[in-house]
Amino acid sequence: MESWVVFASKYGSTRGVAEAIAERLARAHEGVELRDAADVESFEGADAVVLGSAIYGGRWLEPARNLFEERADELTSRPTWLFSVGPLGDPPKPEDAGPDGITEAMEATRARGHEVFAGKLERPALSRVERLMVRALRAPEGDFRDWDAIRSWADRVAADLS
Ligand SMILES: Cc1cc2nc3c(=O)[nH]c(=O)nc-3n(C[C@H](O)[C@H](O)[C@H](O)COP(=O)(O)O)c2cc1C
Repeated sequence: MESWVVFASKYGSTRGVAEAIAERLARAHEGVELRDAADVESFEGADAVVLGSAIYGGRWLEPARNLFEERADELTSRPTWLFSVGPLGDPPKPEDAGPDGITEAMEATRARGHEVFAGKLERPALSRVERLMVRALRAPEGDFRDWDAIRSWADRVAADLS
C-alpha cells in the first residue's frame, strides 16, 4: 500500500510536522512517501493521502489549496486525512483555528478527519510585509509545535489505515 503525506510549507515548520507524521506512519506501514504539494499533480498511485498546509491569513497555501480544489474527486475515492499548522502561543491562538472553508472542503473530499496543530514563527525569516502583519496581530514568536499531539494523531491515522 502506498500512503502519501503531502504538505505545503513556506518556512519549513509544516514540512517538519509532515515528516513526523510520515515517520510515524512508516512504523506501521510500508510505502509511506513524503511529497511537497507543489510537486504533486494528481493522487494517482496513492492508496491513502494525508494532506496538510500551513495557514496564512486564514487560508491554506496555494499549492495545497489547488490540489484540494482540483483533485477533490480523487480524494473522495481514497482514505484521506487533512491537517493544518498555524496557531501560535501557549495556549495556541487563534483557538477556533481551522482554515476558511475547511468544513465544505471536508465534505467535498469525504476526508476522515482534520486536525489543527500549533505552528512556529521566527521573525527574522519573514518578509517585511509579513513582519508587519505578525506585529499587528501580536503573534508570539517561537516553536509551539506539539510533537506528542502530532505523533498521537499520526498513530491514530496509522491504526485507522490498518
Ligand atoms: C504573515 C503570516 C500570517 C499568518 N496567518 C495565520 C492565520 O491566519 N492562522 C493561523 O493559525 N496561523 C497563521 N500564521 C502562523 C503560521 O501558520 C505558522 O507560523 C506556521 O507554522 C508556518 O508554517 P511554515 O513554516 O510551514 O510556513 C501566520 C504567519 C504569518 C507569518
